Order: sequence, then C-alpha cells, then structure tokens
Amino acid sequence: MNIAGSVVFVTGASRGLGLALAKVALAQGASKVYAGVRNTEGFDVPGIIPVKVDVTDEASVLAAAERCQDTTVLVNNAGIGEIQDSALASNMIELTRRMMDTNTFGIVRTAQAFAPILARNDGGAIVNVLSDVTWLSRPMLAAYAASKSAAWSVTNALRLELTGQKTQVVAVHVGFVDTDLVRGFDVPKTDPRVVAEVVFEGVNGGALEVLVDEGTRLIKSSLSLPDAVYFNPQ
Ligand SMILES: NC(=O)c1ccc[n+]([C@@H]2O[C@H](COP(=O)([O-])OP(=O)(O)OC[C@H]3O[C@@H](n4cnc5c(N)ncnc54)[C@H](OP(=O)(O)O)[C@@H]3O)[C@@H](O)[C@H]2O)c1
Repeated sequence: MNIAGSVVFVTGASRGLGLALAKVALAQGASKVYAGVRNTEGFDVPGIIPVKVDVTDEASVLAAAERCQDTTVLVNNAGIGEIQDSALASNMIELTRRMMDTNTFGIVRTAQAFAPILARNDGGAIVNVLSDVTWLSRPMLAAYAASKSAAWSVTNALRLELTGQKTQVVAVHVGFVDTDLVRGFDVPKTDPRVVAEVVFEGVNGGALEVLVDEGTRLIKSSLSLPDAVYFNPQ
C-alpha cells in the first residue's frame, strides 16, 4: 500500500500522534486526509478534512464511514490511557472495560464499518496503533495494557480475515511518544512526527507489523527467551 495517492482516515486526529499521522500522510502525497475527531469545531488544518467520530459510539462510526466511502487507508489511532494504583485496584474491571471500549472495541467498530469500503477500493490498509505494553504490562498500566494486548489479538484476526479482500493489516507497536497522554512522565519520548514517518515507511513497504523504537524491538525479541522482558522490566 502506498500512502502517496491514497485516501487516509485517521481516528483520534485532533492532537498528538493522530494529528501527526494526518499531517505526515498529507505531506507524503495522500490525495485526501480525513481527520476523525470527536469535536470538529476549531479544527483548522489546511488540506485536512475533519470528520466527527467517536469510536465508542457505533452510530457515529457508521455515519463517518458513510461519509468517507473513498477511504483506502484506515488508521485506528484513537486511544485513552490511565494510571492506576495497583493491578488489584477496586476499579480494575471498570477501568479495563472503559479502556477496551475505546482501545479495543473502537478498532472492532471501525473495522466493521470500513472493511467493506476498503474491499470496494481494492483492499487498501488498516493500521492499528497499539503499544509496547502489548507485551509488557505493569501494575500501574494493567488496564491499558490489557486493552492493547486484546487489540493486538483482534488485529491478528482481522489480518487473516481480510487477506481475501487484499487489505494490508498493520500493527504498530511503540514506546513513549511525546503527546498529552504521557505528559507527566519524565522519560525519553519519540517525536510523534518521527513515529508517523516510521509507520508510513512500514505501510509503504508492505509491513504487517511496525516496531517503531529500539525499546519495543527489544521487548518483542525477548518474548521467547527464559528471561523475557515482561518478567522483570527495568
Ligand atoms: N503517547 C504515548 O506514549 C503512546 C505510546 C504507545 C501508544 N500510544 C497510542 O497512540 C495513540 C494516540 O495516543 P496519543 O499519545 O496521541 O494520545 P493523546 O495525545 O491523548 O490523543 C488521543 C487522541 O485520541 C482521541 N480519542 C480518545 N478517545 C476517543 C474516542 N472515543 N473517539 C475518538 N477519538 C478519541 C483524542 O480525542 P480528543 O481530543 O477528543 O480527546 C485524541 O485525539 C493511542 O492509541 C495510544 O494508546 C501512545
């Protein structure tokens, strides 16, 4: 799939990584870029078309898909995260449900709505923004990590399901990115623009998985080892 000439729909594009993905897609020659945002008011980025969408609301997703029938690349970027005190916190189940409604079921809703559109448009691509926490949970991120692991599993099923209609399904795994989501974390973070460039380089090259940074590659490569990183993260 080539981003140049494609019609890209990015969810959660009001700010952060989603906005960077939309801008980089445009800069790389996408013929049209839709920014899926919860609030279209005040969104004013030249060349990018705001479209109202809340990925937790099926009717909203269906309405966006109805409007954007020429989409060839769906980027599932919308996501939420929250720090918790403990994996045993009394709100763990409620928190996990809430994370999953956006981070996991949001992907299911948009895939259900857009897969038939992609099929009609020669297959196209679905790019799911996951995380390094897919493979590395911690008590303080237990609910968020569970939603991303589940989203990874959904992504893998979608890839097999949509092979028949020639849709390239890409999982993006990435560590800290410099956005509002991790504003309070004093750790090295990757520039969202750099992440977007690495993601689209992978998409253009036919990748099924993009491991954006060295830390994420290390975690993935350790999975089959007796001392896999998730046993004892530093
Ligand atoms: N930042 C990191 O360190 C990091 C690391 C790994 C993966 N990620 C993933 O990268 C993606 C983007 O995160 P970010 O860092 O850019 O976070 P962010 O700055 O907090 O932005 C989140 C975006 O998602 C949108 N959003 C949230 N819930 C939504 C919903 N129900 N429907 C539609 N849009 C919704 C937000 O819209 P509003 O403006 O309306 O709130 C915003 O545009 C997420 O999937 C996140 O899990 C981030």
